[in-house]
Amino acid sequence: MRRGVVQLSLFGVLVTLAAAQPKKDDWDIYSFHINSTVTGRYATTVMTSRVVNRMTESKEVEFHVQIPKNAFISKFTMLIDGQMYDGVVKTKEQAQQQYTQAVSRGQSAGIVSSVGRTMEEFKTSVTLAAHKKVTFELTYEELLKRTHGKYELQIHARPMQPVKDFKVDVHIHEKAGISFIDVKGGLSTNVLANAITKTRTDEQAWVHFYPTVDQQTTCDSCGERGLNGDLIVVYDVNRGNRLGDIKTLDGYFVHHFAPSDLPRIPKNVVFVIDRSGSMNGRKMQQTRTALIHILNDLAEDDFFGLLSFDSEISHWRRELVQAVSANLKGAKQFARGITDRGTTDINAAVLEGARMLNAHPREGSASILILLTDGDPTSGVTNHEAIQSNVRQAIAGKFPLYCLGFGFDVNFEFLEKMSLGNNGVARRIYEDSDADLQLKGFYEEVATPLLTDVTMIYVGGTNLTQTNFSQYYNGSEIVVAGEIIDNNVENFVPEVIAISSKQKVTFSNTNNSVDSSAGIADGLLQRVWAYLTVKQLLEKELLVSGPEKEKVKSNALELSLKYSFVTPLTSMVVTKPQGEDMDVLHKPKEGDGPRFDSYATPANRRVMLVRRPGQHGRVGLPGHPGSYGHLRPRNSPPSHDDREIRRWSSRSIDLSADYDDSNIYATNVAMAQPTETEMTTTPAPVSHRFLRKAENQPLPLCFDVSEAAIFKLLHHPSKELFVNGKLDSLTNGGFTKIVIHFSADQHIEVDPEGIRLHQGQTTTLYTGQDLITAGRLTVILRVKEIDVAVEDVRLVIFIHEKDGNKFLWPVLRQTPSADDTEGLLALKPADYQVRLQQSDGKLKLKDREAPAVRSSATDYSIANPVPMNCWLVGADFALERTLNDYFVAQL
Ligand SMILES: *[C@@H]1O[C@H](CO)[C@@H](O)[C@H](O)[C@H]1NC(C)=O
Ligand SMILES: *[C@@H]1O[C@H](CO)[C@@H](O)[C@H](O)[C@H]1NC(C)=O
Ligand SMILES: *[C@@H]1O[C@H](CO)[C@@H](O)[C@H](O)[C@H]1NC(C)=O
Ligand SMILES: *[C@@H]1O[C@H](CO)[C@@H](O)[C@H](O)[C@H]1NC(C)=O
Ligand SMILES: *[C@@H]1O[C@H](CO)[C@@H](O)[C@H](O)[C@H]1NC(C)=O
Repeated sequence: MRRGVVQLSLFGVLVTLAAAQPKKDDWDIYSFHINSTVTGRYATTVMTSRVVNRMTESKEVEFHVQIPKNAFISKFTMLIDGQMYDGVVKTKEQAQQQYTQAVSRGQSAGIVSSVGRTMEEFKTSVTLAAHKKVTFELTYEELLKRTHGKYELQIHARPMQPVKDFKVDVHIHEKAGISFIDVKGGLSTNVLANAITKTRTDEQAWVHFYPTVDQQTTCDSCGERGLNGDLIVVYDVNRGNRLGDIKTLDGYFVHHFAPSDLPRIPKNVVFVIDRSGSMNGRKMQQTRTALIHILNDLAEDDFFGLLSFDSEISHWRRELVQAVSANLKGAKQFARGITDRGTTDINAAVLEGARMLNAHPREGSASILILLTDGDPTSGVTNHEAIQSNVRQAIAGKFPLYCLGFGFDVNFEFLEKMSLGNNGVARRIYEDSDADLQLKGFYEEVATPLLTDVTMIYVGGTNLTQTNFSQYYNGSEIVVAGEIIDNNVENFVPEVIAISSKQKVTFSNTNNSVDSSAGIADGLLQRVWAYLTVKQLLEKELLVSGPEKEKVKSNALELSLKYSFVTPLTSMVVTKPQGEDMDVLHKPKEGDGPRFDSYATPANRRVMLVRRPGQHGRVGLPGHPGSYGHLRPRNSPPSHDDREIRRWSSRSIDLSADYDDSNIYATNVAMAQPTETEMTTTPAPVSHRFLRKAENQPLPLCFDVSEAAIFKLLHHPSKELFVNGKLDSLTNGGFTKIVIHFSADQHIEVDPEGIRLHQGQTTTLYTGQDLITAGRLTVILRVKEIDVAVEDVRLVIFIHEKDGNKFLWPVLRQTPSADDTEGLLALKPADYQVRLQQSDGKLKLKDREAPAVRSSATDYSIANPVPMNCWLVGADFALERTLNDYFVAQL
């Protein structure tokens, strides 16, 4: 609550600024953040949108986002005028009742409930009085599913407007180690690629996406309404232990089982293809294309069958045949000839497919039945229950049935019931240009069976999620969660028994792979357990009937309510502000902008300083920032202005008196002017270890700088942007001051205590959370982070602390598109080669070679710095030019 209030006052400033530039929208999204944290494949994503009504009358303001279908929404809040409105998860019936009551009382109330499809929409709105602001915050959770050997975290960004302060932050923590990480999706291409930054260690990875407003309107899938697309973070983890990854915490465990070093099991697969009239045109064509690809991918020791059906069945062969080239050739010919006609007899077709598999028992193989259909049964047996019962009898648990529902005319629930009742799953194939790839993609998921009859056993465990799986495929994963009886981890013995090819195999915990996980957020494994349990109960509910159905449903409902999951059984009720007092409280004052004449209000402690002409002003040549600094005669008494500054940053003043800068600059900067003096009298040796990221190599380079110096961080002459930073001997951490020149007579000075904006003769001091806009520059001050945007550059300056010293660390989040940039931050990842691999190595970068030793460094380019392994090399080598080239004379 308190935090909300602070944010509100902070953004109050922005709001007024935004209002000054008329736009055609009635309301402005001035900030949109997406923050995803993935721990042990469980992703928690928070979307925060801050909106203002710029009109002089009430307006309905919308929050409309998309979330992955697999996710459960677990939290929603609205913050309006410092007042928090929490969404409450209730049963569907209660929600409906409350909604009806609210409406009859003349109140507005919103209901949020989940709807099906790949992405789900979440939409709510609130009526905002004139000039009011609202913060929407939505949290959703999902267990990432492994398919095709990878996990995908899909983030859909469509804020509905270009947003100045738009960002996506993703943090992944996998104790098993991350084997690779990649960023895909429409938002990762072309112009937007510059907006993505990645950082990783063995166990952790960070992905940041900070597009500028320009990019949000000019990227491929973007328009006037800004971004519209996906950012997909793709990764996998290391799998050293065959039993997999078992985490325990607070009496719960989660087991990820995905061995890949097993031989493939030959398979017997029968494809049952719908060719009823509704498949005509593109669907039939895409099915033929996919089938031909799939046939091409069969291994020689696979057996297969192929039949197409409408009201009648056409076989290619009545029995399964081996996937040798002559047979495949004939089958492809048959596939090319499948044309649409007639009605749909699903019952007869599936039973015939089952018959073919049953007639072909083969030891040490895995049988799979795949049905592709686009419609409801319309001939033969059409009663759903009867078909289900027939099919279940014919299959008798011997192999899984996968149902692919093509397009939206299918009765998907019917297909789902049929699959789930026979150890399979149902998938939708979306009617689109890539339908053949979707079909092929699904087939690839089941193309390589590695185990059959998998039984997961947990002695000492209880309340387990599903433990029996008929088949396990390469690239997928089995996940089981449960409770540990009495939290007695010693007595907890996990084991997996399965059949690999012809023999029974046991995976047991020889290597003590149970990880009592520190470093996992409290209650996380319990949530994973709840998530999986609810998912599986919802599936089970489809299959059972009568009192058992009620019991399953009530269990699922109870858990959904307890963990606040919006599931098909629950809804979230968002009650909105009402009543007279809302209009009175926190009504924004007219002109609540950055008033340069104000002396500090408690909420945003802003102090304004006016520098009289002729007094320690900036000197130097405008447009050549490297050549000017702030001159203050060394022993002159502080002026009135300086006293103001001292209040803000006493340390820098106190230490200035006796400073002799010649020592420090002697080696680097021959013609150093006496600069603003913030150094200690006896400069301690500075040593900072910098990291340079690497391209195509696991380890970054690192190098030491042991001189106090002013660094050229980013010079971008075509945009008149110059960023310099001072590394000095006071701290052993990083920069103590960073200056950003963004026009001939405007710059900001950043230090860990705040920001000074210099515009001509005027200086304004900002501390605390605040927002600054000046010309092309936007700066948002947060608690430990300063976000700076200047046209196509987005920079984050972190305020880190080490041994009680605060220091700054700049990171480029948006690489400028022009190539006239230089400086430390403009360095591209190094493309080096390892010549000698041992603890002492030799690296080659471009055409230079240099010795290197394995070492470590702290990566300060993320909010919570982490140590990283690196190759320690000389600075000149790492930078590909002499270190002196990165120095400038003055800030
Ligand atoms: C993102 O969420 C995590 C976990 O809740 C939190 O620790 C972190 O500070 C958040 N990051 C941002 C940029 O808000
Ligand atoms: C046991 O664990 C260690 C380290 O975790 C690993 O190096 C080793 O390969 C594992 N051995 C087996 C048999 O899984
Ligand atoms: C399973 O997949 C891994 C890569 O994900 C691959 O190295 C391995 O060869 C595959 N196994 C089989 C039997 O295809
Ligand atoms: C299983 O979970 C339920 C509900 O969470 C709990 O009441 C019960 O005690 C648990 N069962 C066991 C055997 O721990
Ligand atoms: C799982 O499989 C084992 C052996 O294959 C069997 O004994 C057990 O009953 C099965 N459990 C469930 C819940 O189906």
